Amino acid sequence: MRVCVIGTGYVGLVTGACLAHIGHHVICVDNNEEKVKLMKSGHSPIYEPGLSEIMQAASHAGNLEFTSDLAAGVAHGEILFIAVGTPALANGESDTRYVEAVARGIGSHLDGGYKVIVNKSTVPIGSGDWVRMIVLDGVAERQAALVTAGGVPGEEAISQSGTQFDVVSNPEFLREGSAIYDTFNPDRIVLGSTSDRAIAMMKELYTPITERQFAEDKSLPPVPVLVTDISSAEMVKYAANAFLATKISFINEVANICDRVGADVTQVAKGIGLDSRIGSKFLQAGIGWGGSCFPKDVSALIHTADDYGYEAQLLKAAVSVNDRQRLISLEKLQQELKILKGKTIGLLGLTFKPDTDDLRDAPALNLIEQLNRLGAKVKAYDPIISQTGMRHGLSGVLVETDPERLADSCDALVLVTDWEQFRKLDYAKMAQLMNNPVMIDGRNFLDREMLERAGFHFRGIGR
Ligand code: UDX
Repeated sequence: MRVCVIGTGYVGLVTGACLAHIGHHVICVDNNEEKVKLMKSGHSPIYEPGLSEIMQAASHAGNLEFTSDLAAGVAHGEILFIAVGTPALANGESDTRYVEAVARGIGSHLDGGYKVIVNKSTVPIGSGDWVRMIVLDGVAERQAALVTAGGVPGEEAISQSGTQFDVVSNPEFLREGSAIYDTFNPDRIVLGSTSDRAIAMMKELYTPITERQFAEDKSLPPVPVLVTDISSAEMVKYAANAFLATKISFINEVANICDRVGADVTQVAKGIGLDSRIGSKFLQAGIGWGGSCFPKDVSALIHTADDYGYEAQLLKAAVSVNDRQRLISLEKLQQELKILKGKTIGLLGLTFKPDTDDLRDAPALNLIEQLNRLGAKVKAYDPIISQTGMRHGLSGVLVETDPERLADSCDALVLVTDWEQFRKLDYAKMAQLMNNPVMIDGRNFLDREMLERAGFHFRGIGR
């Protein structure tokens, strides 16, 4: 099928590359010329395992193109994905101005043929109808411009009634760091629309994925496709992220109680996770959730509820537990070192999770800020940021090039991100290089016995 994806952030680029990989002809549109040039040369602007390979193969097969020309993209696609960012405003509300600009742009370039316009960005509930109105505004603006220019609305002019399109909400559940795997091995596909025609096209688009042709385990039954009304599909995305974030805040709260009563949260998580009603995933206690989705989406849902006169108390509590949890390692550092002024603290990891270069809403940033405020010197080593640190504009932290340089002269280390390579560092050597071999394992990730054998005084979270 002919697909156009507008916006090449995480969601857009992964969606475009994966749809091209499964055989569709995809044009990705982005208004950033530099980025388009980079992607045309087969390079991914984000670090995501496997993405560059897929981009290069699909481009080579002639299935994936990049352009900054929205008109060309709209003319090409029977299915048009809106995948631009919806960042959080200061009050927690989603900033939908990029979605609005794209929807208006699509309207002004519609050519009269039937199109499915898909909201892939996480948009506030009710955006489906709003996008439809904005697209129609775009159509009307172009028509008015044609008339003003003296052209009689003829063949190339579009009348509103002649413009056939439907809006579908198709929320994205991919995780950074495993985005390609998640796209080919989804738990479900959610399609929100009341148009049978649009749903049929979307199902056809996803057939290679729902039939598991590109899945790791091809013998599994087909991927469930849930068809709902638009608002319910939009809500599924918020509810899923809010549930997962709340689950993590729940286990972090349990961890803090474990710390006080002398229990081990990792064993407690195992014990409750074996109950199939609870499930074992997302019960990893640590320094709190971050990233580009959970904080933004939970705040947006609280804000939407508030708009409708409802106080989302549980979600507010999940956020406040998380805000406190982000500084739990600071509390432990103070318990161990007492005064932090003049001390040197080394952070293992900076990104909000492993296998990504994403620092958006990363707990490390709060920790750096607070350590600086208390007069501590902060150093860090991160497998990706240590290579690309300059372009991230980090402040208040010295980014070291290897773990041993990080350990040198530190008064304590804090494991912030559970990068797999951190399991196998030369901890004995690192302990020797430190002023004071204290390790705060902010992710309950390291083997306590191994660290203690290496000479560390070890503290986990809730154990
Ligand atoms: C999340 C959702 O999982 C995904 O479905 C949605 O589309 C986007 O948001 P992502 O932000 O990539 O994906 O990260 P995820 O792996 O879900 O982790 C989110 C945060 O929770 C990270 O900071 C992670 O470290 C933390 N986390 C996760 C925990 O602290 N404990 C856990 O058990 C799991």
